[in-house]
Amino acid sequence: MEVPKEQLGLRAVGSHCSLSEMDDFDLTRALDKPRLKIERKRSFDERSMSELSTGYSRHDLDMAHSPGSRSIVDTPLSYVRNSFEPHPMVAEAWEALRRSMVFFRGQPVGTIAAYDHASEEVLNYDQVFVRDFVPSALAFLMNGEPDIVKNFLLKTLQLQGWEKRVDRFKLGEGVMPASFKVLHDPVRKTDTIVADFGESAIGRVAPVDSGFWWIILLRAYTKSTGDLTLSETPECQKGIRLILSLCLSEGFDTFPTLLCADGCSMVDRRMGVYGYPIEIQALFFMALRCALSMLKPDEEGREFIERIVKRLHALSFHMRNYFWLDFQQLNDIYRYKTEEYSHTAVNKFNVMPDSIPDWVFDFMPLRGGYFVGNVSPARMDFRWFSLGNCVAILSSLATPDQSMAIMDLLEHRWEELVGEMPLKICYPCIESHEWRIVTGCDPKNTRWSYHNGGSWPVLLWMLTAACIKTGRPQIARRAIDLIESRLHRDCWPEYYDGKQGRYVGKQARKFQTWSIAGYLVAKMMLEDPSHIGMISLEEDKQMKPVIKRSASWTC
Ligand code: GLC
Repeated sequence: MEVPKEQLGLRAVGSHCSLSEMDDFDLTRALDKPRLKIERKRSFDERSMSELSTGYSRHDLDMAHSPGSRSIVDTPLSYVRNSFEPHPMVAEAWEALRRSMVFFRGQPVGTIAAYDHASEEVLNYDQVFVRDFVPSALAFLMNGEPDIVKNFLLKTLQLQGWEKRVDRFKLGEGVMPASFKVLHDPVRKTDTIVADFGESAIGRVAPVDSGFWWIILLRAYTKSTGDLTLSETPECQKGIRLILSLCLSEGFDTFPTLLCADGCSMVDRRMGVYGYPIEIQALFFMALRCALSMLKPDEEGREFIERIVKRLHALSFHMRNYFWLDFQQLNDIYRYKTEEYSHTAVNKFNVMPDSIPDWVFDFMPLRGGYFVGNVSPARMDFRWFSLGNCVAILSSLATPDQSMAIMDLLEHRWEELVGEMPLKICYPCIESHEWRIVTGCDPKNTRWSYHNGGSWPVLLWMLTAACIKTGRPQIARRAIDLIESRLHRDCWPEYYDGKQGRYVGKQARKFQTWSIAGYLVAKMMLEDPSHIGMISLEEDKQMKPVIKRSASWTC
């Protein structure tokens, strides 16, 4: 029996002007610009269409752009032009992804975290995690299968409406679950759902990232399908507002960044990421921008829109100035005076130069930079975190110059940040005394393992998206080559260990769904860069003048 192409996931990975095939093709050259001094006015969508697609008619390009249409890959013309043989891993990955699908009353509603039968300990890996489902969702959207994504968005929205408690304490209304599980009763033939909002999670922390991912995914769905009816429903509008009211409420905050507990995101256990972790700040920024594009300016929406706009201005100013680290900035911090009081202070957060770790002086290239892990009073966490930096590029939290600098750093520090397996979740690891103090002696987070400097294949899709957005697909191609040499053979592990990321992680699950989906998304984006539009936001030009002005009112 012939398996339909769509089932193999080959529908949208068909053949067209594949970037991965154009070996000598350097996108940076095509962009006609010097590497560092960038005048990146137009979106990558625009660029990829106008400059990458030589040979396509205007009509093809319009089709590729218009919501609802999948992409130019469907045009017979492209079939004739390039014959593209998908890597054998692609079909295997689709099969594995489909095996991980979870159904509720006959409808697909998500994918389980890992389909690892060999593992003795299932823990909660048999659940649908909100953050883990994002790459699965993108893969389905890119393959023209939006239903599972819509069902997931609606199901999690329903779960948001549940009353959530940890012991006797009630959680905020807008909190989205970290994960949920469908229980099938074969006798009664019923399906029920149990969800975890942090009350069962190790450490009992609510997932701050879930709500942000939900908003980001709703926009991706809308952008990819052109179906506005979902995001415009009163239920979705209310869901967005509830998530945002958790983070936009006024309180004692003196910073526009979001104060969090340790373990409230992908790094979901104690790792010294409490305070203002970059991952949450970047997702917060992106979710605010996505929400802004979807909220209706009706009576209830209007107030939120105003609050979002104000917060975005303050947040981008704060992040771009205080979280940004490059050679110059490092040198400035190194020479900081301390104990400065009043508005004239240069060292506003009273960071002690002695607290700068030795490694960062060697690590920092002359060209390049990144957003540090955390900034709070007298505390700068200089560690590099991949997710936050990639999301900063995708959301345009990073200015075009900063985005290029992040990619420069990645290229320059490839050995450290990528090594043999893309991509380190953070760099460097913490060990010995510091590990004991920061992790509380966590045996899963030993040095160069798991969240403590482990290498996570899922991050490949974000790296690839960032590479495409900054016009450096060759970096992504290099990372994909590394993945293709091992991931399938090693049965799609959750993470790798070691300084080079050479060893399958100590306690890593096999057939980890987001490792599988992340690979597929990376492949599809490289083959059809127009897909990036669903997960990337262009620079908001209106934000610029306000930021310039705010430089004067802060001092
Ligand atoms: C681990 C990871 C978390 C992920 C979950 C399911 O707990 O730390 O980020 O969502 O596994 O894969």
